[in-house]
Amino acid sequence: MSTAAQPDTAKHSPRQRPVIAIDGPAGAGKSTVAAHLARRFGFLNLETGAMYRALALKAIQNDHSFDEEAALVDLAQQTTITLQPVVDGNRVLLDGVDVTQRLREKDVTAAASKVSVHPRVRAWMVAQQQKLGGQGGVVMEGRDIGTKVFPDAEVKIFLDAAPEVRGNRRYRQVSPAGQPVAAPVTEEAVLREMKERDERDRNRADSPLQPAEDAVILDSTALTLEQVLEQAEAIVTGRMQQSR
Ligand code: DC
Repeated sequence: MSTAAQPDTAKHSPRQRPVIAIDGPAGAGKSTVAAHLARRFGFLNLETGAMYRALALKAIQNDHSFDEEAALVDLAQQTTITLQPVVDGNRVLLDGVDVTQRLREKDVTAAASKVSVHPRVRAWMVAQQQKLGGQGGVVMEGRDIGTKVFPDAEVKIFLDAAPEVRGNRRYRQVSPAGQPVAAPVTEEAVLREMKERDERDRNRADSPLQPAEDAVILDSTALTLEQVLEQAEAIVTGRMQQSR
């Protein structure tokens, strides 16, 4: 696992720049908020979900079961995942091949949630993520950033929204004009799959999705995108001023 943008040097030195942890369920707007904050504060944007997705894709390509923890850890160790920060998120290379678009497909999405339940897979991912973000100056987005990857993050935001609102946003992403092209998809189906994934992510034994005790909860159910971005920015600015 590697990132094109961050050398691994700071393991034992205190961070010069903050870590901003953005956690929350699918469809809450984490990627949009993370990309905005990274741009606004000049930080690196790292999407940890893309790492789980890339490993899931490799498992699919190699006909691996999503249930076999040891085999998945072996597979991870033979895999190079590169996150290249771009304007609206990360370009992802799996063993040198650009898989950014493929990672968003339905089978990979479901598989990522399944491979992520295994403690040894998670331990491996967390160690990579701690190296990638160790120097600070990053906005790291995921499910366990504020609780497990960087429990000492300077800023922690838990972004949430009602399931129906998140499902509707996801539906509009997969079917922008309400006119699905590749395969018929309904809003109900998107919501159902999202709820299944939420259920798995929230109830797994290791690092279930939950807000860190010191996270600021930002519920975007009744907010416009502009309001969410504004509030997220205000939280970061406030926290950074406090910690000076
Ligand atoms: O954020 P995302 O939808 O790309 O994440 C895909 C899956 O990866 C998600 O269902 C749960 C898992 N994941 C995780 O367990 N921990 C993270 N830090 C990020 C993602």
